[in-house]
Amino acid sequence: MISVVIVGTGNVAQNLFQAFEKVTDVEIKQVIGRNENHLSFVKNKAPINTDFNKIPAADIYILAVSDDSIGLVAEKFKDCKGILVHTSGATSLDILSTYDRTGIFYPLQTFTKGKIISFKDIPICLEAKNLKDLELLQKLGETLSNTVIKVSSEQRKVLHIAAVFVNNFTNYMYTIGEEICTENNVDFKLLKPLIKETAAKLDDLTPYESQTGPAKRADQKTLHNHLQLIKNTHHRELYTLLSNAIKHKHGKEL
Ligand SMILES: NC(=O)c1ccc[n+]([C@@H]2O[C@H](COP(=O)([O-])OP(=O)(O)OC[C@H]3O[C@@H](n4cnc5c(N)ncnc54)[C@H](OP(=O)(O)O)[C@@H]3O)[C@@H](O)[C@H]2O)c1
Repeated sequence: MISVVIVGTGNVAQNLFQAFEKVTDVEIKQVIGRNENHLSFVKNKAPINTDFNKIPAADIYILAVSDDSIGLVAEKFKDCKGILVHTSGATSLDILSTYDRTGIFYPLQTFTKGKIISFKDIPICLEAKNLKDLELLQKLGETLSNTVIKVSSEQRKVLHIAAVFVNNFTNYMYTIGEEICTENNVDFKLLKPLIKETAAKLDDLTPYESQTGPAKRADQKTLHNHLQLIKNTHHRELYTLLSNAIKHKHGKEL
């Protein structure tokens, strides 16, 4: 049995709680958050606590708090004996450098509280200051996911940058697509099969091979027509920037 304390009440903490709660080999010793109302998702399924001076003994403390507060929150755990990990893709392990037993437990996925998802296919990226702790983190990760891997702080940061491109930027493109549809009284839902197929294609093809569209074909007529139709200046700038990047990548004349 591995005992854990989950620290935080947000997107990641809620998803981790729901996932660990179903695992018989993991005991959730406590969920800690500074705001009692934000702990309501625990629903008496585990002990909760708002007092960072009353932390129980546990094998692993998971700091699922915002990046800016990891260092500050970690200070409350200086007398704890278990492994102290954070869940951030962008934050170095060094932020916990004053502690002996530290690590990273970074699930490479987008989480939103209220939308609970399965961890089975989510890569969990691990790092630890010492080998024995890495082994325990590996064991913990494997209770949730089929893909638990050791990555260095540098590799994790690179993965996080790539994740910003494939997830955050892509989602912003959806936002623009939705705005364009709404402005022109077209249902954005019509684009959902296209969105799904764009991602599904990557099971068989590389992103480079999957690229289609007027920029890849260097179809100047369509590109010109689209730019005429796009009213929003910011949308037009992005359309031009991205079309040029695709044309450049696919060796077409700019
Ligand atoms: N969301 C994702 O998709 C995702 C994916 C992978 C990794 N991560 C990483 O996981 C971590 C948590 O992200 P999240 O999306 O779950 O964040 P979030 O939803 O914004 O939740 C942040 C949590 O941190 C707590 N917090 C902030 N400052 C605090 C302080 N000074 N003292 C105590 N608690 C404090 C907040 O408490 P209050 O509720 O009281 O404000 C809240 O419970 C981050 O390191 C993030 O980079 C996020």
